[in-house]
Amino acid sequence: MGGFNDNGREHWASRAGFILAAAGSAVGLGNIWRFPYMTGEHGGAAFIIIYLIAIFLIGYPLIVNEMVLGRVTQRNPVGAFKALAPKTPWWLVGALGVFTGFVILSYYAVVAGWSLAYVYKVVIATRTAGIDHTDVFVGHISSLWEPIGWQALFMTLTVGIIAAGVVKGIQRWATILMPVLFIILVMLILRAVTLPGAGEGVAYYMKPDFGEVTGRTLLGAISQAFFSLSLGMGVLITYGSYLSPKDELPANAMCVVGIDTGIALLAGFAIFPAVFALGFQAGAGPGLVFITLPAVFAQMPLGIFFGILFFLLLSIAALTSAISLLEVVTAWLIDEKGWHRKNAAICMGLVIFIVGLPATLGYSALGGFSFPGLGTDLLDTYDWFANSIFLPLGGLLAAIFAGYIWGTRKAIEEANKGRTVFALGNWWGFLIRYVVPVLIIVIMAMGIYDSFIK
Ligand code: PFF
Repeated sequence: MGGFNDNGREHWASRAGFILAAAGSAVGLGNIWRFPYMTGEHGGAAFIIIYLIAIFLIGYPLIVNEMVLGRVTQRNPVGAFKALAPKTPWWLVGALGVFTGFVILSYYAVVAGWSLAYVYKVVIATRTAGIDHTDVFVGHISSLWEPIGWQALFMTLTVGIIAAGVVKGIQRWATILMPVLFIILVMLILRAVTLPGAGEGVAYYMKPDFGEVTGRTLLGAISQAFFSLSLGMGVLITYGSYLSPKDELPANAMCVVGIDTGIALLAGFAIFPAVFALGFQAGAGPGLVFITLPAVFAQMPLGIFFGILFFLLLSIAALTSAISLLEVVTAWLIDEKGWHRKNAAICMGLVIFIVGLPATLGYSALGGFSFPGLGTDLLDTYDWFANSIFLPLGGLLAAIFAGYIWGTRKAIEEANKGRTVFALGNWWGFLIRYVVPVLIIVIMAMGIYDSFIK
């Protein structure tokens, strides 16, 4: 492990470094902000069960698929498809990934900026008696400059880490930040589950209500699986390209899935018991974390301390994911266009910041614009397109590529190189050829029907 390949491509310095970096990409706002509110909106444990099925039938096979494509080609997503299918249009799948990374990071940095701002806003929100927490949040996001400033700060941190390189930037920060994240999460859970009345929240979280399950729920679960595992846009192709054939792959992929799913489930235990114990509702949607939780912290013993910790957790999780999004675009510019890493990171960071501005301004200067059928604001619209269309489409096309063009036998052989724990078998080929494409197509069609046509 470590060092460079024959063409001078940097490699991860250790197995743990790679797992933590990939898990850092996976664990993000998706786990701590999106997963709990999706669960709250879609009937608690019923959503979780569907989500877990999606993870095992679609998530794991696709994670392996992307890592193999990256490792075997040692390239960014566009270069990977070009290398395996030269002179065909398949490179467009990689290009779709790079484009999706662009779009996701542009609005991801907006929400990440809110969470950075809340590391200190939560102090005011919990200290001021009788404050209306909806007003605080709406006041923050609808002010013109403040959210833009936090978004810019967040993008600057992201660019700084990517400019430092794979090992000295991505791996180093993932190795520092992921353990911190885990410790904070455990502290928050211990606080939440020991509040009097916490049991009701645990029951809500654990008791399935299938009455609320619709086509939108299924699409919600599948898009959450894609988003949470950083699938369908080439992050794992890119991170896989810094692995060597001597490195373990099937078990590493399983570790990443396990850490990501575990942290999403644990985040629910940090949130729902506290929300219910202090008499609040769980179905608040995207505002759950920014409106309901500060109100919860305001009433909790040592709430300021836990409030700061929570928003630090959210910001750290967002940062290790954002770097992976920027790395895809950066790797593409370095490999395909011969750019220097620093220039690529800075230029792309700036462009992505600008592309994200309409999502921020959607709550202030551009308020009132929305895409018919897709919720109420521009950020929702970015989110819907990225998660419900681009990511599943990217995953679907990558599966079809491995399943029918490159061939699953070759993919399995490549994935098993360097493995020490367990080997992929034909079951993986079956999932990639049949189960993954069929499920993605059916569920995308159902979700689009529910969103627009019904
Ligand atoms: N997986 C990240 C999260 O759960 O917040 C978000 C994300 C990162 C999505 C990278 C997609 C991606 F390529």
